[in-house]
Amino acid sequence: MGFKIVKKRVLIPGRVTEVVFLAPDIAPTAKPGNFVIIRVRENGERIPLTIADKNPEQGTITIVYLVVGTTTALLDLLQEGDEILDVCGPLGKPTKIEKKGEVVCIGGGTGIAAMHHIAKGHAEVGNKVISIIGARTKDFLLFEEELAKFSAEVLVATNDGSKGHKGLVTEVLDSYLANHTVQEVVAVGPVVMMKAVAEVTKKYNVFTTVSLNPIMVDGIGMCGACRVSVDGQVKFACVDGPEFDAHKVDFDELMHRLNSYKQQEELSYKQFCECHGKEKKN
Ligand SMILES: Cc1cc2nc3c(=O)[nH]c(=O)nc-3n(C[C@H](O)[C@H](O)[C@H](O)COP(=O)(O)OP(=O)(O)OC[C@H]3O[C@@H](n4cnc5c(N)ncnc54)[C@H](O)[C@@H]3O)c2cc1C
Ligand code: FES
Repeated sequence: MGFKIVKKRVLIPGRVTEVVFLAPDIAPTAKPGNFVIIRVRENGERIPLTIADKNPEQGTITIVYLVVGTTTALLDLLQEGDEILDVCGPLGKPTKIEKKGEVVCIGGGTGIAAMHHIAKGHAEVGNKVISIIGARTKDFLLFEEELAKFSAEVLVATNDGSKGHKGLVTEVLDSYLANHTVQEVVAVGPVVMMKAVAEVTKKYNVFTTVSLNPIMVDGIGMCGACRVSVDGQVKFACVDGPEFDAHKVDFDELMHRLNSYKQQEELSYKQFCECHGKEKKN
């Protein structure tokens, strides 16, 4: 039995899409921080996607994806009523959420979707949540309205200044931390952003959690693909994470490992685009 898509919503045309699908065995136990591994076709690649939200009553989970290569492009061909071939989850350790005071949650790119689920969890236990989101331009911002429903403040940064602060989320974070006492910072987004967040929060000595996105294959700790170094020790992000103490992560190694299959990925996506008459996006 496949996993039927009940709702598909384009968030950023041609780039980011939200899909809600039936997964009655996953929805009741999915927690903030968990992810699923999906396969779109027989012999297809397995890819991890964060559970951006869930509805246990309706037995659905929500994913938000950015089309970057063959499997996300294949997923994007599916429409409401179609089925995702298989979905494994919930995987990974859930976020440690406890009442602690004020928590700043930062999201970049599709990381905002994952951050939204975590931030909502913090708000539900009574923490004051400050959300900081960033994108290239205002048209690439995600979940601003959803975050505003439970955040004390939503601070925005865009590279071109089309909305909020002109510049990086780390600059917004830096000035916020200079004037407020914060118990934890959570960052989800591109590795380069999470590394920069860790550098800022180290200055203020604020505990910081990042959600790592290494290449994953099985998602259950058997293949070793998602190996990361944390505090000088080998960890498997799929079972030991994906969230870790940002001040202990070797981000440079993670960036290096993420590029391991760049050539093959580019070739595969080029072939997909040629077959489907699509233009390759940057
Ligand atoms: C725990 C976790 C949660 C994630 N959540 C989301 C999410 O909610 N939304 C989203 O858009 N993306 C998410 N990602 C990234 C997503 O898995 C990749 O974008 C996807 O695998 C790309 O596959 P592709 O075939 O379309 O592209 P490809 O051309 O194969 O790859 C493009 C890039 O994606 C990454 N990637 C490729 N294969 C994998 C793989 N098997 N596992 C992990 N990364 C891979 C690499 O950086 C690669 O360079 C998450 C990754 C992890 C590890
Ligand atoms: S994905 Fe295989 S060990 Fe983590």
